[in-house]
Amino acid sequence: MTNDFFLKMRIYLIGYMGSGKSTVGHGLAGALNLQFIDLDNYLEERNFKSIPEIFASVGEEGFRKLEQKALHEVSEFENVIIATGGGTPCFFDNIDVIKRTGKSIYLNGTPRILAERLLQSKTERPLIKGKTEKELVAFIDETLTKRSFWYKQADVVLDFDHDISIDEVLLALDL
Ligand code: S3P
Repeated sequence: MTNDFFLKMRIYLIGYMGSGKSTVGHGLAGALNLQFIDLDNYLEERNFKSIPEIFASVGEEGFRKLEQKALHEVSEFENVIIATGGGTPCFFDNIDVIKRTGKSIYLNGTPRILAERLLQSKTERPLIKGKTEKELVAFIDETLTKRSFWYKQADVVLDFDHDISIDEVLLALDL
């Protein structure tokens, strides 16, 4: 690995809601001594509104525009680990921005583990709010199939059906 790689390191975590992007991102940033940015949190701070508030006021379409803008901004930061939102790579030119400006890893969880985690999660996610377990599983199956086209363009794909350790991620990233 060259020094240059360290000087401008930028790693993107991509994957479905509940795949552990933020948790893994935190751990990875700690292990590599880099700054951690959660794109959802960044977007909320920039817009002075929570994600559910943004969806309620401008809908998904408006949210996607703000998300794209936020991605463009953070793609200029250096020495960062960026956890994207679950839909980020799947809209506009976002996957190209991600691929052009950093190394990307797709956390590819099985629908079963994603559903389990989302049912336990306290984070409010407008796209799945109010769904029963059965509806959630059907929604994940359908959207994951569509989104895989973008997710699979990541530089590294990490398949998992368990809690991911940071060592596994470092290994997958060849670090
Ligand atoms: C979304 C995922 C969420 C958030 C928004 C939309 C999606 O992020 O960006 O609710 O389209 O999958 P997480 O993946 O962090 O839950």
